[in-house]
Amino acid sequence: MCKAQKPGSGLRRLRAFIMDTERPKRRRRYRGKNPRHFSEKYKEHAPERYTADFDKVIAGGRTPAGTHRPIMVGDVVEVLQPRPGEFAVDCTLGYGGHAIALLSAIQPGGRLLGIDIDPAELPKTEARLRALGFGPGVFTAHRTNYAGLSKLLSEPADIVFADLGVSSMQMDNPARGFTYKYDGPLDLRMNPQRGQPASAFLKTIDESSLAELLVENADEPDADALARAILQTTVSTTTELAGVIRGAGRDEDSIRRVFQALRIAVNDEFGALDALLRNLPFCLKPGGRVAVLTFHSGEDRRVKKAFQSGERDGIYLEIAREVLRPDSDELRANPRSRSAKLRWARRNKGTLL
Ligand SMILES: C[S@@+](CC[C@H](N)C(=O)[O-])C[C@H]1O[C@@H](n2cnc3c(N)ncnc32)[C@H](O)[C@@H]1O
Repeated sequence: MCKAQKPGSGLRRLRAFIMDTERPKRRRRYRGKNPRHFSEKYKEHAPERYTADFDKVIAGGRTPAGTHRPIMVGDVVEVLQPRPGEFAVDCTLGYGGHAIALLSAIQPGGRLLGIDIDPAELPKTEARLRALGFGPGVFTAHRTNYAGLSKLLSEPADIVFADLGVSSMQMDNPARGFTYKYDGPLDLRMNPQRGQPASAFLKTIDESSLAELLVENADEPDADALARAILQTTVSTTTELAGVIRGAGRDEDSIRRVFQALRIAVNDEFGALDALLRNLPFCLKPGGRVAVLTFHSGEDRRVKKAFQSGERDGIYLEIAREVLRPDSDELRANPRSRSAKLRWARRNKGTLL
């Protein structure tokens, strides 16, 4: 016991902590009958306490605030063929939906390493999975960029999975700057501790480079005019940027594409994906399987090309002939699955050259 501590004070502190964490927090007041803002949806943020309300949101085809609904889980498990005792890596842990499905399929004896770049969400997901009974012997969480996967692994994996892009927790939280439905700082970083927010990035880029980026990252057809309009003013919030795009006579699709292009740029998403695809063969055991879920053409093109050239070079024994898409039930139940495409590959049994 330390010198300044009185006998029993540790116990008192523990009791005070328990009392404090047990005391229900006063919820924020909101206008109207139903909460509208992300932070006001207290029932959706606590699915374990408000099960019926949570289920009602899902039945309505929506994603409860602060959660993420995993996409094409059945297909992912089918193409990856997880078996008991295997070692799996989920490169994009997110809310943990795919990880839970894989973890369950590799028991008994299997282990899963869950990676995510997001310092705010990763600890919550780790705690959620621990509460579900996945102890440190079967599940490890690690905050890092999947670009460095080959350096992180001390042994190759049987399974590598990546579900690209952002989670609904990131997308829906105005404080993260991914949504233009509510006002928030124009940030768009998955790891706010690294790099620069999109508002600062826009101050460093010239008109022709921004136009190029809008084409390359989001196939924006009006890239030149939009780049000019955006750089004519200083934008620091999400709704300001949306307002500038609307003011230039463009629609919601253009707003969505501009946000996507900026998000890809500030997070160097293509750089990270290219690095992962390059290193994948070294991260997989002979006979190991990889599956990647993509959400736009720039991502899918890269995965398709990497798998095809890997097959030509004899690195992959077999790859997906056709891209897999969500079925009509999933599209109806979860509209956020609409642009998902799933590709997979199986590593050759031979060793790498
Ligand atoms: C679509 S979500 C994954 C959702 C997850 N499959 C689930 O079932 O909840 C994508 C996640 O990947 C993470 N991410 C994106 N790029 C990353 C990168 N380069 N390295 C590590 N994690 C990344 C994001 O922070 C986000 O949590």
